[in-house]
Amino acid sequence: MNLAGKKILLGVSGGIAAYKSCELLRLLQKKGAEVRVCMTEAATQFVAPLTFASLSKCPVYLKNGAIEARPFQHIDFPRWADLYLVVPATANVIGKFVYGIADDPVSLCFMSCTGPRFIAPAMNVAMFNSPAVKRNLETLRSFENTFVMDSPAGELACGEVGKGRLLDPAEIVEYLEKRRETKDERGVILSEAPRAKSKDLQTLPAENEVDPTLPGYGKKVLITAGRTEEAIDPVRYISNRSSGKTAVAIAATFLANGFDVSVVAGPMEAEFPGAVHVTRIKSACDMHKAVLEQMKNADVLVHCAAVADYRPKVAATEKIKDSRSQLILELEPNPNILRDSVAQKRADQVIVGFALETDHFKEHAAEKLKKSGADALLLNAPVAANSGFGFDEVRYTLIRANSRNAQNAGEVEIPEMKMGSKIDLAQEIVDFSLDKLKNA
Ligand SMILES: Cc1cc2nc3c(=O)[nH]c(=O)nc-3n(C[C@H](O)[C@H](O)[C@H](O)COP(=O)(O)O)c2cc1C
Repeated sequence: MNLAGKKILLGVSGGIAAYKSCELLRLLQKKGAEVRVCMTEAATQFVAPLTFASLSKCPVYLKNGAIEARPFQHIDFPRWADLYLVVPATANVIGKFVYGIADDPVSLCFMSCTGPRFIAPAMNVAMFNSPAVKRNLETLRSFENTFVMDSPAGELACGEVGKGRLLDPAEIVEYLEKRRETKDERGVILSEAPRAKSKDLQTLPAENEVDPTLPGYGKKVLITAGRTEEAIDPVRYISNRSSGKTAVAIAATFLANGFDVSVVAGPMEAEFPGAVHVTRIKSACDMHKAVLEQMKNADVLVHCAAVADYRPKVAATEKIKDSRSQLILELEPNPNILRDSVAQKRADQVIVGFALETDHFKEHAAEKLKKSGADALLLNAPVAANSGFGFDEVRYTLIRANSRNAQNAGEVEIPEMKMGSKIDLAQEIVDFSLDKLKNA
């Protein structure tokens, strides 16, 4: 989103991080945006409204402001704005947004705003991890045209360390600039992450039409996709139920972000958009060979394929005859594609693995991440009804190798599992890869 000329309503609620909103306001103005401010009463205890009024050159909308002079500010301000930004958002206002309570300027504007609403939560780690806040944030994310920003782990204003930190003002500006902007028939601006929704798959850019301003322009990603087939004889094989839908969502999302996308794909039902370069293989050994050959050209590798761990030691050259007697198949392990690619990884490459676990999934995934040496592992647990193989919704979390648990710094931090679309999952991998490449 280009912020130049944008009208932004900034809602400030009563958290210690409210002072950062002053800097945010200035940064938005520097980008050419016009900003107005509304505040909760608690927020005025942290920053004087006069500061915001002076910076924005406009009276601040306050609960006990000059109501007679401007009786409809709760409607006029959101209507004036192209987008509404709540920074910081307290646990209290988040609860009000979710439950439709509108008894202060910030929650009133949230309710009457029909444009995109961006929420930046900030609070103490214990508050952030409380069941109520977790549930409310999840619900808020499901509201139409409402975008909840990350509250990363870090040193909090209260002196503790953990999740709940407000993004820095510059990060918030970057977050907004990364959003894609479109208008619907009502002329309302809709903003969303530069993600490819499944309906966009047909309209993704052709290879020679990639927008050079996209963050992944000039970068290459190699994705493994689908399942493998391990031959028993010329007509039979060992395989699994992977449909390839996740890999298609990942390929489409990397494409939508400007990457050059190649896949090494086993058998699968889902189809890739036209601009994706596809190498077809059947067995895990074929995939291993193709990945190790092609990875030197890639900046990012995503190991999404459901690769068989074992293959028949001997594949019969003729169809095995039905003798109605017991048949014992001897299996041997397939090569570990993730580990072997990590062994060849250059320092400037990013590798994301996948783990599908059905039990003790967090422990297993942490162990797999450690053993593999990948930069991150997407833990995918098809434990909920209607999620997993062949479905569009999945239960997942992205575990970053360099994140550390606040309580035990020796352990990798495993974020909570969440339900989301395969596009949501894909977007998280793309965002992670872009950040990692930026800091490589
Ligand atoms: C010093 C201090 C710092 C606070 N910081 C936060 C905070 O960072 N996040 C939060 O959700 N609440 C914080 N609170 C609690 C809120 O101020 C309190 O819930 C208040 O009712 C929020 O009002 P509001 O949501 O209408 O702004 C803090 C309270 C105090 C006294």
